[in-house]
Amino acid sequence: MSANDKSTPIPHDNAGTSRRSFMRNLAIAGAGIGAGLVSQSSLASGSTVCAGNVVSGQSRKLGDLTVSPIGLGCMSMSSGSYNPPRSAKEMVPVIRGAIDRGVTFFDTAEVYGPFTNELIVGEALKPVRDQVVLASKLGFKFDNGQRAGRDSRPVAIRKAVEGMLKRLQTDRIDLLYLHRVDPNVPVEDVAGTMGELIKEGKARHFGLSEVSPTTLRKAHKEYPVTAVQSEYSIMERSVENQVLDTCKALGVGFVPWGSVCRGFLADKFNEYSRFSDDSRFASVPYFTPEAIKTNLVILDQIRVWSDERGITPAQFSIAWLLAQHPFIVPIPGTTKLHHLDEDLGALSVTFSASELAHFRTVIENIELAGFRAKDAALTDK
Ligand SMILES: NC(=O)c1ccc[n+]([C@@H]2O[C@H](COP(=O)([O-])OP(=O)(O)OC[C@H]3O[C@@H](n4cnc5c(N)ncnc54)[C@H](OP(=O)(O)O)[C@@H]3O)[C@@H](O)[C@H]2O)c1
Repeated sequence: MSANDKSTPIPHDNAGTSRRSFMRNLAIAGAGIGAGLVSQSSLASGSTVCAGNVVSGQSRKLGDLTVSPIGLGCMSMSSGSYNPPRSAKEMVPVIRGAIDRGVTFFDTAEVYGPFTNELIVGEALKPVRDQVVLASKLGFKFDNGQRAGRDSRPVAIRKAVEGMLKRLQTDRIDLLYLHRVDPNVPVEDVAGTMGELIKEGKARHFGLSEVSPTTLRKAHKEYPVTAVQSEYSIMERSVENQVLDTCKALGVGFVPWGSVCRGFLADKFNEYSRFSDDSRFASVPYFTPEAIKTNLVILDQIRVWSDERGITPAQFSIAWLLAQHPFIVPIPGTTKLHHLDEDLGALSVTFSASELAHFRTVIENIELAGFRAKDAALTDK
């Protein structure tokens, strides 16, 4: 699937290389070289490239689950969402490179591929399985290997988990999310089944994705939820309407997907970007030509703030998310280690309370196009 027809990611990447290298080197210089994980994963991958452990012992908590403060989203490695699917041969070194850099939190799902993403992630993590946190998601049904609606019946969940464990080459999934709520199955039944799977040792923690505060509360009452995963970025802010507050009140972690707004905040697109009808981008409301034009105003503002600090817009955007709450763990998705290095550079960025208040005032006065209405957060997606 072609990702985009007329956007200009490559020239921009080249233009940003020296600043990105600078940020990467800065992050590496500020961190010690990690011991156990680095040597084990490098040996396992046969890789000679090791940028150093930029995460260097930093961690965050999702509920009672400890993870690196930034995880790696693996979806686009094989789903064909933003780029053509990549092979295991190409992507296993990217995941192992992330381990070398100190990332311990990896995100996949049964539906990515479908199935093939879990195969890649399973192969990559096998040698270091006990030292990483593996998150995957279920809740769709498949017909002839293609996604065909939702199915969260207990029997379907159990069947899905058996396949996932095989593909992931493991005996347990550390964080098992319901990917989307099935309107035909009460979320309490899902929570109960997840609780049983956790008792049986096939999963360790229960998560939900794109749920309303009401659904989160109902599920959490039946079995404690460890994390909610939904879209959240400095541009897509609808979860600020009660979802984050509910997570905070219940002690549930929050994992924002789309932290760089599918590449927009990483400067991948401009007013000339156009997408072919078979591209996933073509169905995203904030990527229509008109929406991109409107939304470039916030990117221009973020570029100003980033330049003032000698960082990149992607780093600013991820650091902004990290600064919102200590229970937030972004999982930027990438197929490239140099982009991961840039994204991890966000760990070196801090903002004062007055800076954050200033950013807030400014962004709330910028008109955006194609993002969810505030009330969208109050219903399951
Ligand atoms: N729960 C859900 O419903 C749901 C939905 C979507 C995604 N997810 C999960 O969340 C993860 C992240 O979300 P996402 O991938 O949709 O959005 P994202 O992380 O905002 O954006 C990923 C895109 O940004 C690009 N990118 C990342 N860092 C970059 C950098 N420094 N410079 C230039 N480009 C950069 C990547 O391209 P390159 O490959 O070229 O770096 C990729 O195309 C996914 O991998 C998946 O695991 C969950």
